[in-house]
Amino acid sequence: PLPVILDGDPGLDDAVAWWLSLASPALRVLGVTAVHGNVGLERTVRNTGVILALAGARGAAVPYFVGADRPLVRGAVHAEAVHGESGLPAQDLPDPAAAPQAGHAVDFLLDTAAARPGVTVVATGPLTNLALALRLNPGWAAQVREVVWMGGSTGLGNRTPAAEFNALADPHAARVVFESGVALRMVGLNVTMTCLATPDRLDVMRALGSRVGSVSAELLGFYAGVYRQRYGLAGGALHDPLAVGAVLWPDLFGWKAMHVHVETQEGVNFGRTTCDVHGVTEEPRNAQVAVDVDEAEFFRRMAALLGSYPA
Ligand code: BDR
Ligand code: CA
Repeated sequence: PLPVILDGDPGLDDAVAWWLSLASPALRVLGVTAVHGNVGLERTVRNTGVILALAGARGAAVPYFVGADRPLVRGAVHAEAVHGESGLPAQDLPDPAAAPQAGHAVDFLLDTAAARPGVTVVATGPLTNLALALRLNPGWAAQVREVVWMGGSTGLGNRTPAAEFNALADPHAARVVFESGVALRMVGLNVTMTCLATPDRLDVMRALGSRVGSVSAELLGFYAGVYRQRYGLAGGALHDPLAVGAVLWPDLFGWKAMHVHVETQEGVNFGRTTCDVHGVTEEPRNAQVAVDVDEAEFFRRMAALLGSYPA
């Protein structure tokens, strides 16, 4: 199996992404690193423990770590309106089965990549932990196999007209990562907003007969209202699970190499990922950007894996 580290800010779609990762026999999750984001760090850490506990035997041996509690430079941005006050808006969740490890998430990222080069990092939140790792050891960029990030957009934003949430929540960190030379794939809103947890799909998830499947449906059902009201969409977008999908099934996506500039100037474009889709500048191509996805097939495969958990 492919060794992976999951870095994120759970957050209800982070939770589904992590259950998907833990269910796949093609991946070996070496550890999980929490960061500030959708809710404050204290909650993302607790939620990480809850997510691992709900994964049962598949989450039991996975260590998790406390990461950065705030962005590098800007003030914190959270998204309680989308993810609920707790970040995991579901009934009857278990308590964490284990406490977080003593070491810092950034040390785990550094030590793991040094000890076993070739690890893939799936990042589904603000990139603060990864940027700190790169600042402590720029060589980290060459040690990891790749970073696959849910964030940014080739087009419009979701938190501001210009910026996607994970980019906006720490633009300086995103810029450090994009300028580091690390092998990087970006799965942004231009594809994730096309893959929705529609009411029909929530029914499919509830009918899987697995607890993880029905809790996933409950979580994704929570933010359907926001997606309907704010974006006029028929369900919540499967943002973070798609980043895991990009690791498991890269062939379901269309990819294009391009230069991505992250705007760190405060103003209306703060946090925008300006993507040179047409190659009109001489800037180096620093990312493979998802431009397309077979979203129906992705959903089928995701549902099958979520259905593999016990009742
Ligand atoms: C991203 O922002 C968060 O709210 C989600 O968890 C996802 O990672 C989408 O913009
Ligand atoms: Ca997230």
